[in-house]
Amino acid sequence: MTSSVAVVLAAGLGTRMKSTLPKVLHQVAGWPMLKHISSAIRGAGVENIILVLGHQSELVEETMGDGYCVAYQKEQLGTGHALLQALPFLEEFQAGQCLVVCGDTPLLTAETLKALREKQQNCNAEAIILTAEMADPTGYGRIVKKDGQVLRIVEEKDAGPEEKPIKEINTGTYCFKIEGLKRLLPKLSPTNAQGEYYLTDIISLLAQEGKCVETHLLADPNEAMGINNRVQLAEAEKLMRRRINEQHMLAGVTMIDPENTYIEAGVEIGQDTIIYPGVHLVGKTKIGSACEIGPDCRIVDSAVAKGTLIKYSYLSEAEVGEHCTIGPYSYLRPGTVLANKVKVGDFSEIKNSFIGEGSKIPHLSYIGDSSIGKGVNIGAGTITCNYDGVKKFPTYIGDGTFVGSNSNLVAPLTVGAGAYIGAGSTVTKDIPAGALAVARGRQRNIDNWRERLTLKAGQDKQGED
Ligand code: UD1
Ligand code: CA
Repeated sequence: MTSSVAVVLAAGLGTRMKSTLPKVLHQVAGWPMLKHISSAIRGAGVENIILVLGHQSELVEETMGDGYCVAYQKEQLGTGHALLQALPFLEEFQAGQCLVVCGDTPLLTAETLKALREKQQNCNAEAIILTAEMADPTGYGRIVKKDGQVLRIVEEKDAGPEEKPIKEINTGTYCFKIEGLKRLLPKLSPTNAQGEYYLTDIISLLAQEGKCVETHLLADPNEAMGINNRVQLAEAEKLMRRRINEQHMLAGVTMIDPENTYIEAGVEIGQDTIIYPGVHLVGKTKIGSACEIGPDCRIVDSAVAKGTLIKYSYLSEAEVGEHCTIGPYSYLRPGTVLANKVKVGDFSEIKNSFIGEGSKIPHLSYIGDSSIGKGVNIGAGTITCNYDGVKKFPTYIGDGTFVGSNSNLVAPLTVGAGAYIGAGSTVTKDIPAGALAVARGRQRNIDNWRERLTLKAGQDKQGED
């Protein structure tokens, strides 16, 4: 392919979003809209991306990170004016293609942009316009053709009665020959109903010169959906979610109810994993193969290895080994690392802790700032008391330890391998390996207590008489 560059127009205010956040940073399936677009552009083989930014450009730049050129448009004088701001960056490209994409069309795919580039090359056209047929074209620029030739694009507000019914609309995505674009951009003028510099006027300028302008019609008009308000944002979310789920299913993931499965862009899932309804896989989450996830889990920025089962649980920044079972109702907080074959059961919370292979925390526990060895059994209701109100302290539990139910392990604490802790203990001192620690009030039985009570009740009654 020829050398290429892409310009993303993203300086608009997005007033109709009614938001303090710039429109292009609103998320669709967990990614800002602008990230979806840049990912599609890169997927189409274009590495040089120029972002035209205006409102809150610092925040947009910070969110997008490195790898972009940024042109600033101080006043939003129209799409043509926005593209003009990128002209200094285009100077270094003598020949080749320039893709132009709007920042608010997150559903656009790499395949479509690739097809646009290929068509430009094959036709040697000055411009290819990505178009769509809309049952209701209201609000979009209409493609005006004569004998199949593109004459111009007319905006809704400038359209006459014979143009308004045209169903083929401009999606706002184009592939230009770079030389022609550079030559004509400075010639745009704001002589139209909105007093703006229309990028679309480049098309009529090219047509007047007798240059070849072609259209590429989208098979699925949804792909061109521009997001202007939060109703459209929710529609895009739904379409994107369906697309993501279908990709996973086609790659070998079973989904019991894809309509109720919420997987963000960029999440990875291994083959033969089954996802039950109500599952949210968020951020940088990676799920291995042959896992069963759900129903009703939220897993954020976590890694889960193969063969693990997770039900009704919440994981955040956790790392889970192979063949673990988690839930129902487990809460794994940041810094939790589970080795293989660990069991974490109902109402157990773990934070910033390592749990060794085959260890079990089956019920009602809190484990914080701890390192637990292999094959440890943590009895129901065990708490690591890691916080004295000022500082946090660690707990170390050696391999094969048995912690009796309802124990309080007051940190800092080290429990040697193979130790036993009697149920109900409040442990405040280190325990040597292999020892039994019992740290609770000793039980005292008082014989014949009931008999003595009855006797006493009788005496009291007599006293009253
Ligand atoms: C534009 C097209 C229209 C097309 C529609 C598709 C023009 C004149 N019209 O209209 O033919 O059907 O997109 O969605 O191009 N922007 C800037 N600076 C500006 C103005 C806009 O950066 O001064 C950016 C916006 O952030 C947005 C994109 O350009 O990402 C499109 O702008 P918008 O105002 O939404 O254009 P439309 O009126 O929808
Ligand atoms: Ca728009």
